[in-house]
Amino acid sequence: MNIIRAIDHEDMACKAANLIAAQVLIKPKSILGLATGSTPLGVYARLILKQRAAEVSFAAVKSVNLDEYCGIAASDETSYRYYMNHNLFDQIDIDPANTYLPDGMAADFDAECARYDHVIEELGGVDLQLLGIGMNGHIGFNEPCDHFKMGTHCVQLTQSTREANAIYFSRGMEDMPSFALTMGMRPIMQAKRVLLVAGANKKEVIAQALEGPVTPRVPASILQLHPRLTVVYCEQ
Ligand code: F6R
Repeated sequence: MNIIRAIDHEDMACKAANLIAAQVLIKPKSILGLATGSTPLGVYARLILKQRAAEVSFAAVKSVNLDEYCGIAASDETSYRYYMNHNLFDQIDIDPANTYLPDGMAADFDAECARYDHVIEELGGVDLQLLGIGMNGHIGFNEPCDHFKMGTHCVQLTQSTREANAIYFSRGMEDMPSFALTMGMRPIMQAKRVLLVAGANKKEVIAQALEGPVTPRVPASILQLHPRLTVVYCEQ
């Protein structure tokens, strides 16, 4: 485990963006596993700047995102598809056809989960997986539970996750979905590299995840078993 301490949020974003850009420079056809949420926003902003400055190109990159809300259309501003298009894909030279997210509007969620696992498999797995971490230790939307779930699955979001993310919905908890589709632990743990970014507000859960027992009650603790985990952690 490689822990990189950042002095502030900007430094964290800069360090994480450098690592992702380096991955793409070394392997232009990288498969990037991407995350949403507030933490990666600065990372994406820096990647956009790097691409505009011709320091890196995403033309040959393919991406798979961790998760999507159930019942939210891609065109809706609160969907993770919209977030990714708006905050990254529309502003870099990636081919939109090469960007994948689960379909939260699928009629059959089991079939959609199987399809998404197949997409990841067909891509040959993830080269670098970017992760944030929830206050309860979730990664993707792998919420605390009795056992680590390996494949893409439909998950009931916990109250704390719903409360944390309700701010993105105009009517708060009233509009906040209760279910999401999330990539499971297999592609995350099989990723060649994992890059976990966390702000100072995640101090306690980061300590639990990285220093406590490996348990599905703290889903991110499984990352202790990943051979190439880098954590960019912001101390303030
Ligand atoms: C998002 C995701 C989540 C977030 C986590 C932290 O795709 O998978 O695990 O990374 O909820 O979110 P923020 O960064 O908003 O604190």
